[in-house]
Amino acid sequence: MAKLIINEQKKLGKIHEEIYGHFSEHLGRCIYEGLYVGENSEIPNVNGIRSDVVAALKDMKIPVLRWPGGCFADEYHWKDGIGPKETRKKMINTHWGGVLEDNSFGTHEFMDLCEQLGCKAYINGNVGSGTVQEMSEWVEYMTFDGVSPMADLRRKNGREKPWKVDYFGVGNENWGCGGNMTPEYYGNLYRRYQTYIRDYAGNGSITKICCGPNSADYHWTENVLKTTFDHTPEHLHGFMDGLSLHYYTVPGPWEHKGSATEFDENDWFLTLKKAYFLDELIRKHSTIMDQYDPEKKIGLMVDEWGCWFDVEPGTNPGFLYQQNTMRDALVAGISLNIFNKHCDRVKMANIAQLVNVLQSVILTEGAKMLLTPTYYVFRMYKYHQNAQLLDSSMEIAEIGNEEHKVPAVSESVSMSEDGTIHITLGNLSPSEEQEIEIQFYEQKPAQITGSILTGSMTAHNTFDQPDAVNEQEFTAYSVTDQNTIKLTLPPCSVLHLGVNA
Ligand code: AHR
Repeated sequence: MAKLIINEQKKLGKIHEEIYGHFSEHLGRCIYEGLYVGENSEIPNVNGIRSDVVAALKDMKIPVLRWPGGCFADEYHWKDGIGPKETRKKMINTHWGGVLEDNSFGTHEFMDLCEQLGCKAYINGNVGSGTVQEMSEWVEYMTFDGVSPMADLRRKNGREKPWKVDYFGVGNENWGCGGNMTPEYYGNLYRRYQTYIRDYAGNGSITKICCGPNSADYHWTENVLKTTFDHTPEHLHGFMDGLSLHYYTVPGPWEHKGSATEFDENDWFLTLKKAYFLDELIRKHSTIMDQYDPEKKIGLMVDEWGCWFDVEPGTNPGFLYQQNTMRDALVAGISLNIFNKHCDRVKMANIAQLVNVLQSVILTEGAKMLLTPTYYVFRMYKYHQNAQLLDSSMEIAEIGNEEHKVPAVSESVSMSEDGTIHITLGNLSPSEEQEIEIQFYEQKPAQITGSILTGSMTAHNTFDQPDAVNEQEFTAYSVTDQNTIKLTLPPCSVLHLGVNA
């Protein structure tokens, strides 16, 4: 028997909705086919954007979307993607699969997508191969309402009013594909480039994100912050609102990461243990950030995370197309619980990537679309968005094998504005059910709603069987005394409970 103790009177801070964010790159079939099929497609669309995908993402309550990359961002020249489509430059996407990039999806199309989704826009700028002028003009093009060369150009291209750019990333992975820079060199570039991300709306509404570390590269964090904070940050007020962190859960070595669907219990525990590493990463990077930003004003933006396996056999290795099983669902559930618990520092997270690439919530094949187990986790967890994190802790044993041990159950708890308490739990055992007693400080659970996702560890949805794994209603709980709920969590499952007094 495991015990979850909740102090519903102790609120620990807001869970920013952006923690439930996503990422879309010009990579494989994410943008083209997955999101954008063109206006002349037989697949139902609005301005070329797939209506089935938009409806599913709205139902999941997507809060923010990052674009155009990824590594693609530091090779992307935004002026190639504006104006009449027939005159847009055609080129090869050398980074991802060597396929034709016709630039038919550019700034206007991305902003339209965000408007259709009702989500915030996170644009990632080009530092690796772009100039300060290019980045500065992009911001002017998108956000300036007055008379200027770029604002006039936007109007000429059919958009009268400026858009709202919520987040702007100054480069991507500049320690690697974004220019192979040292932290000191990038830190100086960051200071310079961010200066020209002008606040045209006059309300400081663009959140500026500095390129942070890969995984456990604490040297990068320390030295980028040392460089950017050198020489009195006060006069650079608003110079940095976020620092990114990239962490992928990769079970094997890079050359053989492992299959997305064919794995054993050892791979299962190894993968989940690697997912838990996120907790250590956030704590350690945050400790370094505390030296420069003790009030935690700068968010740690985990703007790329998720499982990275071998591509599906027979698919283009440069497309990073992989299937998605209950193992991915557990990784998503564990990671989101970790982000929730670190909501004082983690202010955004973007799973990689939205459709058809890495740990996607949606897969498409022609006109067909399926929702992955990861999709259902995001839909079940959506109640945490903008809720208050509650103090909770679990008395629980570890499970696993000799080499790889993980807590048997993952949890986080929040209270939404209407007073509902949201509990999300994951049973990490692929074979054993788990008895759980949930004890509140004072709350008397009167009304409970529940939904569950469960299946064998390799269970997944295919285009022939799109509903093999699906969210089900959960009613197998009992209220034992005034403030305690008892339930049995099936093996390999993710659960959401909504509890009202
Ligand atoms: O998500 C795929 C790639 O992973 C991104 O382009 C890059 O930023 C990271 O290395």
